[in-house]
Amino acid sequence: MRFATKAIRVGQNPDGDYRAVVNPIYQTSTFSWQSLAEVPPVDYTRCANPNRHILEQVIASLEGGSFCTVFASGMAAITAAGSLARAGDHVLVASDIYGGTYRLKEKVWPLQGIECSEFDARDPASLEAAIRPNTRLAIFESPTNPILRVVDVAALAETCRRRGVLSVFDNTFASPYLQSPLALGVDLVVHSNTKYINGHSDVVGGATVTNDPELGQAMFEWLKMTGAAPSPFDCWLTLRGLKTLEVRMERHCSNARRLAEHLERHPRVRRVHYPGLASHPDHELARRQMRDFGAMLAIEVGHSAEEAARVAEGFRVVQLAESLGGVESLVAYPPLMSHASMSEEERLARGIPPNLLRISVGIEDPDDLIEDFEQALARLG
Ligand SMILES: Cc1ncc(COP(=O)(O)O)c(C=O)c1O
Repeated sequence: MRFATKAIRVGQNPDGDYRAVVNPIYQTSTFSWQSLAEVPPVDYTRCANPNRHILEQVIASLEGGSFCTVFASGMAAITAAGSLARAGDHVLVASDIYGGTYRLKEKVWPLQGIECSEFDARDPASLEAAIRPNTRLAIFESPTNPILRVVDVAALAETCRRRGVLSVFDNTFASPYLQSPLALGVDLVVHSNTKYINGHSDVVGGATVTNDPELGQAMFEWLKMTGAAPSPFDCWLTLRGLKTLEVRMERHCSNARRLAEHLERHPRVRRVHYPGLASHPDHELARRQMRDFGAMLAIEVGHSAEEAARVAEGFRVVQLAESLGGVESLVAYPPLMSHASMSEEERLARGIPPNLLRISVGIEDPDDLIEDFEQALARLG
């Protein structure tokens, strides 16, 4: 089966007495035993549930992995990945990383006795140099948030493997449709299912995927022990969204390309960060590594935070909101949203200026989006 078919058919067989084409929601906390001699295949929803099981099979097949565990949020999935490190271990986190992962590195893992430091994922030599004898994990992502740099996933994964470090890759921004990190050599993929996987901005969820049975078992055990499981209804909704991932991503990407090309020529936009533009520093790498260039872009408008705010607050179709990857276009202001946990100096050091807006391009009519940007940018005078 190919990608779009897998999303619709893997694990999804006629269900129950009525042979339902769409699997029902098993909204139950527990399952009855026929006798004490026969342990049922599913007994308690924190540990297992049919809706969770189907979703896990589909995400695993789309990522090219054998073991998927779904979680109540992307952060729960990243926390599970972090549980692979113990007191005395060292964890490396890319300097360009989602704000929530940065917070784990700053505020959670050090309290557990885990040493943490950063590396520049754009340069595999920086990873090589940062590895210590006790380094257990390296966590990175691509395209990065919010300035959409693309890093060489295969080169970083190879460095990790050669040095005996587990590689953990956050594939949220690309989705399994655009990029296959396990095939590029990564050990463990994490996702915020909240974004493209669900795609409709109505569920918070996460996932880990791997081909390593030990890592797969460790993720499941962590879920079971900590209770970070998603509800059956959230799994059902996520699967409903996931079925259309391919068609959504194609439209997301074509809308983003049109908008990026338009904005690159716009006199009030100082800079467009989008890997699909030939002017982007990582364009060639993105072309090699990804099936298409994604639907996240960032723009620098005017010269100041005030001017960025004027534009951000001036849209009529695009909504000012956190998050990404849904059918509706959203604009975010990183200093007050995803990167609020960093100081201004830290943001500047990561190339996040105060006039930066991040856009998650949805699947609306692209002409409506372009018109909306025109009128919002006109507010700059
Ligand atoms: C790249 C990335 N990873 C992880 C997360 C965390 O996901 P969640 O909000 O589902 O916990 C986010 C959320 O924005 C994200 O953008």
